[in-house]
Amino acid sequence: MTMAAMERVQEQVFVPGESDARHLRSALGTFTTGVAVVTVMGADGPTGITVNSFASVSLTPPLVLWSIDRNSARHGLFTGAENSVIHILEADQDEVMRRFTRGGAGFAGLDWSLNSEGAPVIHNTLARFECARASLHDEGDHTILIARVLRAAHREGEPLCFSRGAFGRFARHAA
Ligand SMILES: Cc1cc2nc3c(=O)[nH]c(=O)nc-3n(C[C@H](O)[C@H](O)[C@H](O)COP(=O)(O)O)c2cc1C
Repeated sequence: MTMAAMERVQEQVFVPGESDARHLRSALGTFTTGVAVVTVMGADGPTGITVNSFASVSLTPPLVLWSIDRNSARHGLFTGAENSVIHILEADQDEVMRRFTRGGAGFAGLDWSLNSEGAPVIHNTLARFECARASLHDEGDHTILIARVLRAAHREGEPLCFSRGAFGRFARHAA
């Protein structure tokens, strides 16, 4: 049997069901992504959320998207905000990533400032997209947020990667 045939034998085929989302989550987890923190200014101060659902949508006009769980305690805050900033994290910024997951420290002690639209900018991330809300789309248990990029910045550095539930670095193939 060839290697390719053996791999096919070990493949797990399943129909996504409501009772057990584990297999679907595992299959989706093979699609390796970067890690982003989306920030908005709320009545109680700045708020952020760590996401990996970020994607580009359009260059002209410049549009990006991400999605938020409709059960998130912060759903209303993010869908209600006119302006947001999407930050792309660098490989060694796990600590920033953890700040904006459940129970994280948030902005306490972090270096940040407000942009001209009044949205919080975290300093020294790998890239950022300063955005205005374009549209919202409720689909299943998430809301897709489409945002227009007003201003963007990026610098040299390695991205933080998320794959199969683990964090790491991008490794280039040998030339
Ligand atoms: C790598 C990673 C990616 C995540 N991506 C998303 C996402 O795309 N959308 C989302 O709503 N939550 C995402 N989360 C979960 C949120 O960061 C956060 O933990 C969750 O919203 C906490 O629930 P709460 O908002 O009710 O406090 C992600 C978490 C991690 C660690």
